[in-house]
Amino acid sequence: MTLITVVGSGRVGTSAALQMALRELGDILLLDVIEGLPQGEALDLNHACSILDLDVAITGSNNFKDMEGSDLVVVTAGLTRKPDMTRLDLLLKNSEIIKDVSSKIREYAPSSKVIVVTNPLDVMSYVAYKTTGFRRERVMGFSGLLDIGRFRYIIKKRLGVSYKSIRSMILGEHGDSMVLLPRYTYVGSSELSSYLDGESIKAIVEETRRAGAEIIRLKGWSAHHAPGAGVSVMAAAILRDWKMVIPASAYLDGEYGERDIYTVVPCVLGRGGVEKILEIKLNQEEDRLFRESVKVLRNALSQLKL
Ligand code: 2OP
Repeated sequence: MTLITVVGSGRVGTSAALQMALRELGDILLLDVIEGLPQGEALDLNHACSILDLDVAITGSNNFKDMEGSDLVVVTAGLTRKPDMTRLDLLLKNSEIIKDVSSKIREYAPSSKVIVVTNPLDVMSYVAYKTTGFRRERVMGFSGLLDIGRFRYIIKKRLGVSYKSIRSMILGEHGDSMVLLPRYTYVGSSELSSYLDGESIKAIVEETRRAGAEIIRLKGWSAHHAPGAGVSVMAAAILRDWKMVIPASAYLDGEYGERDIYTVVPCVLGRGGVEKILEIKLNQEEDRLFRESVKVLRNALSQLKL
């Protein structure tokens, strides 16, 4: 039986666990340092599975050794953004947590694929990659699906078409410098610009960029339903070998002319993890925004001792 470990039993971890259970991707282990929390969440989730006839087993534990044999580890441990905090403010604290978790993954789940969800996402993915020492294909960051999910939501509202007809792509940091790509956004078989003028598209891009902060402002804590949904898609793509093109934070080794950095790019996800990075052609403005975003990430990384 496939084993998925979710490190961190907060809102994002438990939401991801539920949504992976809904897809019956495998048994799930919830790990957290807080005693009772993963056990209690596991019990609650098992009851949900019972009601929904989902034959997966969910366990909770405070012992990292229990992740032995994991096929996939989803890392959600860490602090979340408070109102007025940027993702980069979290950098120093969360990098210590991710280092600790990653060394345990290296020890107890040396054959696993790793999806990092903790913010600041791209930098934490880099920390996990360096600390586990895994091949780059096996360590990736979640976020691109979240940001294009938000983008698609607004487009659907404006145009009144099904999500099934809206496809999009994104590059760069999961943060204020994210690079949404209207030119690579299709409604049916036409570019978004066939339906909306430049000003409207600009407004949608801005609204998308601010969506995470808006959720925090409204409810007092950060998003978890949409992250859980996105993680379940990435997990399914890997565990079911879908070979699906998904924007994920991946280690660049020359792709897009960049090296030794994690940032969001279109990836083919399958059993091997990030099986391929797709290089799409950027125009001058997209390229400029992408370089700026990478610069933000390099600056953040330079503040860490790795
Ligand atoms: C978000 O964008 C917190 O990064 C998370 O909602």
